[in-house]
Amino acid sequence: MCAQRVELRQLVKIFPAPGGSEVRAVDGIDLVIEPGQMVTFLGPSGCGKTTTLRMVAGFEMPTAGEIRIGNEDVSTKAPNERDTAMVFQSYALFPHMTVEENIGYGLRFRKVSRKESQERVERIMSLVGLEGMQRRAPGQLSGGQQQRVALARALVVEPQVLLFDEPLSNLDAKLREQMREEIRRVQQRLKITAIYVTHDQSEAMALSDKIVVMHQGKIEQVGSPQEIYQRPASKFVADFIGKVNFVPCQVVKRQDQETVVEAFGQSFTIYNVPRLDGEAVLVVRPEAMSLSSGEGIPVRVESTVYLGSAMEYRVVLPNGERVTINESNPNLSKLFSPDTEAFLQLDPHASHLLPA
Ligand SMILES: Nc1ncnc2c1ncn2[C@@H]1O[C@H](COP(=O)(O)OP(=O)(O)O)[C@@H](O)[C@H]1O
Ligand SMILES: [Mg+2]
Repeated sequence: MCAQRVELRQLVKIFPAPGGSEVRAVDGIDLVIEPGQMVTFLGPSGCGKTTTLRMVAGFEMPTAGEIRIGNEDVSTKAPNERDTAMVFQSYALFPHMTVEENIGYGLRFRKVSRKESQERVERIMSLVGLEGMQRRAPGQLSGGQQQRVALARALVVEPQVLLFDEPLSNLDAKLREQMREEIRRVQQRLKITAIYVTHDQSEAMALSDKIVVMHQGKIEQVGSPQEIYQRPASKFVADFIGKVNFVPCQVVKRQDQETVVEAFGQSFTIYNVPRLDGEAVLVVRPEAMSLSSGEGIPVRVESTVYLGSAMEYRVVLPNGERVTINESNPNLSKLFSPDTEAFLQLDPHASHLLPA
C-alpha cells in the first residue's frame, strides 16, 4: 500500500435549493493532507463535511476547484477510477453474503487471483479482529463487529486514501471509544492516508494528526489536536472544542511574547498569544482555573456537578460575571458546596487571547 498526498484547491460545491436559491455547501476549501496522515473534518451538522468527503470519493462533482491525489488531478474522474474507499455510518453490508464474501466483494472487480484474494481477506480479518467469523452472516454480528467488517472491506482493496463518514455514530459510547482506537491503530500500522468526518470533538482529538474545523462550508482552523484546543483561532473553534470561558479583558501592555491583560479586576501576564490591543477576550478552559480557601479572586460558588474524575463548579465573580471551573481529582482536594465563598486562581500559561 502506498500512501498518497491529497490536495484540495479552492474546492466549491453549490447545490440548488427550493425556490431557485442555492446552498454553498462547500465554499472554497484549500487543504493539503500529507501521505500517511489521518485528518479529521470536524464541525456541526450541515457545515459541509460529508459533501467534501463525497467529492474526494467522486460521488459528487465539484462546482469549482480541484482535487488531487498523488500527482494526479482526479476532480472529474468517476469513483471507481480513483483509489479511494469509504466507510459509512450505516455499514452498508450485504445481508445475504457471509462476512468473508462481504470483505472480498471489492476484489472481484480487480485483477486479483482467487488465492491472493483469500489471503488478503484473511490477513485483513485478523488485522481488524474478526478471526473465526468468516462464515457468519452480518445479521449474526454485533454492531461493533459489523463496523469491523465495513472497515475490512474498505481496507482489503488497499486504497490510496481511506475515507470515513461518521462511522461510529451507531455504536454505544464505550464501543465507540474502543473502535476509534482500533481505527487509529490500523491506519498507523498501514500508514494509509485517511480523512475522517465527525461532529464529535473527542473523537477528532483522539484520532487525528490534524483537525480541520469547518463552519458554513469554510475552514475555520487547521491544526494538531493540541493547537486547536489550546490556541483556537476563533471563538467558534474554542467553543466547539470542549468547554470554555470567554472573559472580557483589556490588553494593557505588550512586549515580545508577553501580553499583560486585566480581567476580573486583576492583571495577568500571558504568553504567545495573538497581538491584540484594547478590548479583547481571555479564553480560559475550565481546567485552567482552580478554587481554594486561601488566596485569589473572591467568588461565590453557585452550583456544583460531581463528575467522578472531576468536580465542576459554576462560580460568580465580584462583578457578577460567571465562569465554569473544572477541578480534576476532586477526591484529593477540598470541596466547596453551593452558596459558599472561595477563592479563584487562574493559570495564565493555559490561557489564550482572542479579539473581543
Ligand atoms: N444533495 C444535496 N442537495 C441539496 N443540498 C444538499 C445536498 N447535500 C447536502 N446539502 C446541503 O449542503 C449543506 C452541507 O451538507 P453536508 O455536507 O451533508 O454537511 P455535514 O456532513 O457537515 O453535516 C447542508 O446545508 C445540506 O443541507
Ligand atoms: Mg455528514
